[in-house]
Amino acid sequence: MMTFNPSDPEFQHNPYPVYDELRATTPIFYWEPWKIWFFTRYEDINTLLRDRRLGRTMQHILPPEQRYVPSPTLEPFERLGQYSLFDKEPPEHTRLRGLVHKVFTPRRVEGLRLQIGNICNDLVDAVVETGQIEVLSDFAVPLPVNVISELLGVPEADRPLLRPWSNNIVAMYELDHTPEQERLAVQSSTEFTAYLGNLAAKRRAHPQGDLISALVQVEEAGERLTMDELIATCVLLLNAGHEATVNVIGNGLWALLHNPIQFQKLIRQPKLIPSAVEELMRYDTPLQLFRRWVLEDMEYGGYHFKQGDELGFMFGAANRDPARFNNPNGLDITREDNAHITFGGGVHYCLGAPLARLELQIAFETLLSRLPKLRLAGAIPTFKDAYVIRGLHDLRLRFDPVKA
Ligand code: HEM
Repeated sequence: MMTFNPSDPEFQHNPYPVYDELRATTPIFYWEPWKIWFFTRYEDINTLLRDRRLGRTMQHILPPEQRYVPSPTLEPFERLGQYSLFDKEPPEHTRLRGLVHKVFTPRRVEGLRLQIGNICNDLVDAVVETGQIEVLSDFAVPLPVNVISELLGVPEADRPLLRPWSNNIVAMYELDHTPEQERLAVQSSTEFTAYLGNLAAKRRAHPQGDLISALVQVEEAGERLTMDELIATCVLLLNAGHEATVNVIGNGLWALLHNPIQFQKLIRQPKLIPSAVEELMRYDTPLQLFRRWVLEDMEYGGYHFKQGDELGFMFGAANRDPARFNNPNGLDITREDNAHITFGGGVHYCLGAPLARLELQIAFETLLSRLPKLRLAGAIPTFKDAYVIRGLHDLRLRFDPVKA
């Protein structure tokens, strides 16, 4: 087998040639250093995401004495995971997801259209006369935090707190993290939990039209969210929601810039934006890896997997699989048959996909229509040294200045 190392910055900066080789030679393989079975083919990943013999956790099938005991030092961080629907399996996952679904509806998402447009326009107003934009810090990073804050009902003055909290918490999603990262994640979890507890108490006393008020009041067949569940849900919506969205904007714009024919076509035909957004999410997948645990001994694809084995689904590899996509390494903003796997599949399918799509479409619409002749300013951008969350350090562009 070729040299494969997901911690190698060279692989992280451009995993796609390695994926092509792995998919062709060893599409399913065990990687001893992380003790993970990796999967690279679209069909395998798409099938296994729906296989109920696998779970995001296996806590629910273990006898109580074997269940994971949260470490005292990580408790505030782990508590958020413990009560979050992200790390649950049916039937508890079904109950929690049902309660959240009841209030996080397509109608509520559609109702944010105007505010999302305003947020995008305000961010562009701040740079439009200068002729320069650092796409990530000027636009892509503040956008999702503001949108989620708008959705949840976090007052504007408190919003600068959210990004560092969320950053410190999501840093733990990478497979290797340092003691300092753990300390920051714990501190941020403690502060964030206290903040949301306070906000929920205010909304319980004086409900408003926001999602926190709706979550406080939600009830289905006598079931309610506990305070721990409500806080974990809000943190999840913020965290799950923003890193990926940031990176689709950065990676996506960068992909367009080095595919100038596609870029020009999109500028001339803005009605292609919804299909372009789907293609950008397929072409450079913002979340490269999701894991599952084997809940019972099973066979798949000629391999035997034992209870407790860990499987790693390489979404970026599945999205470039020639058995599923024509010319998978090419960017085609008009691609019609584009069932990419970027939002996952099965019971954990991304709850925020409609919001992510709306946000991304409006983001690209605003950037492309208001910043004429976007082009690279200076150095070629570089990807961060991280595997799961794939994104650029920065993306500095120039455009022809316009009077605001
Ligand atoms: C481009 C942006 C996004 C991408 C690529 C993305 C991707 C994903 C993926 C792949 C999963 C499934 C994980 C698994 O199967 O293990 C997921 C789950 C989830 N996402 Fe997203 N997401 C995005 C945006 C959002 C937004 C904006 C929100 C909320 C506002 C959100 C909320 C969630 C939640 C709550 C889950 C957990 C669902 C469950 O476990 O039942 N996501 N997301």
